[in-house]
Amino acid sequence: MTKEIWKPGNMIYPVPAVLVSMKGPDGRDNIVTVAWTGTICTNPAMAYISLRPSRFSYALIRESGEFAINLTTESLAFATDYCGVKSGRDVDKFKKMKLTREKASQIGAPLIGESPVNIECKVREIHPYGSHHMFVADVLAVQADKAYLDAAGKFDLGKAGVIAYSHGEYYCLGKKLGKFGWSVKKGKGK
Ligand SMILES: Cc1cc2nc3c(=O)[nH]c(=O)nc-3n(C[C@H](O)[C@H](O)[C@H](O)COP(=O)(O)O)c2cc1C
Repeated sequence: MTKEIWKPGNMIYPVPAVLVSMKGPDGRDNIVTVAWTGTICTNPAMAYISLRPSRFSYALIRESGEFAINLTTESLAFATDYCGVKSGRDVDKFKKMKLTREKASQIGAPLIGESPVNIECKVREIHPYGSHHMFVADVLAVQADKAYLDAAGKFDLGKAGVIAYSHGEYYCLGKKLGKFGWSVKKGKGK
């Protein structure tokens, strides 16, 4: 391989593109698309999102201290893009994208009914790193659509049709290559 050296930048792809929903203290809610998101810790369950302070959503989350991460699917791909280019300052994204507000179990922010997995988060810390501020949060509850649970109660993310985002483009997940630990299963490795 012959490689070029680039200036510092982000090239960690693919990542999820999630719909983050929130409600400000004045009762106004909104949805924002976020790709800079991920797991921080298994136990306690912690997640993060990074937002530019200029986003309408930024102030709503900062003031309420809560948000929900809603996983996105093929059928939510259009809304995922729309909620990432339009601001809640100008449009009610729930209404425009015909998304259903659902009540969360632990937080005041609405969940997106059409999303197969909703992760209810409470902000623990905000780290202002530069262009983006990182909201470090505790996961208070997860809601998963029963339609994608198998007989053993395991959630089938593949069936749910979750999507990925890579360098400006949205993708469906492709074929399954293996499962956790398959590399060391008998006959596969050492
Ligand atoms: C795929 C995608 C991923 C995005 N990821 C982020 C992100 O991680 N952080 C961020 O601040 N903005 C991100 N954006 C941009 C915001 O979603 C966009 O500016 C949005 O219109 C802000 O909405 P708001 O003003 O209602 O908060 C992303 C946009 C798209 C389309």
